[in-house]
Amino acid sequence: MKFFIDTANLAQIKEANDLGILDGVTTNPSLMAKEGIKGTEAVMQHYKTICEMVNGDISAEVISTDFAGIVEEGKKLAAIHKNIVVKVPMIKEGIKAIKWFTDNGIKTNCTLIFSAGQAILAAKAGATYVSPFIGRIDDSGWDGVELIAQIANIYSIQGFKTEILAASIRNALHIVKCAEAGADVCTCPLDSILGLLKHPLTDIGLAKFLEDAKKFA
Ligand code: G3P
Repeated sequence: MKFFIDTANLAQIKEANDLGILDGVTTNPSLMAKEGIKGTEAVMQHYKTICEMVNGDISAEVISTDFAGIVEEGKKLAAIHKNIVVKVPMIKEGIKAIKWFTDNGIKTNCTLIFSAGQAILAAKAGATYVSPFIGRIDDSGWDGVELIAQIANIYSIQGFKTEILAASIRNALHIVKCAEAGADVCTCPLDSILGLLKHPLTDIGLAKFLEDAKKFA
């Protein structure tokens, strides 16, 4: 399973990248706004900076909602760097645009996926990735990880090549469960990635080893 970081914060991207386990980055308009980035030029420059920091797929989301606008915006985003993946919302015009990007060799990430039917449609259009939002499904009283397993099963039966990118990850257990359920990628906040490191017995065991090492130092 690939690890992406889900942020537009450069310090957090650097920290995750320095671990040596980072395969890519996802962003969205909310994450960009959180960093206080304003204006098209600044946004484009920010994506370029991220692409220069991380050697992997970098999702950059369109904000247009009509076919012509999505295609126009997506072409500009894709021109920033070869690793840009155009992130497109799961709407009718978005599906048409994903098909256009597929036919024109531009990688896509179909975002805001909340059902298996949506994931099938995105795969039919040739999306490189689909992004089911695990945490938001859990928040609404359903099981987000179950959706990952269902999509993985369908894609396997049908031979779809689209990769399942589990998004809206809220904790380290989500990452483990998505790995078990067959996600190809998990895009995670830095805290969830670092949460994988933690176990109290590791800390206790290391303290004991270091204490005992003093006996022969
Ligand atoms: O990748 C999608 C993700 O950023 C949404 O996460 O926590 O806002 O549901 P969240």
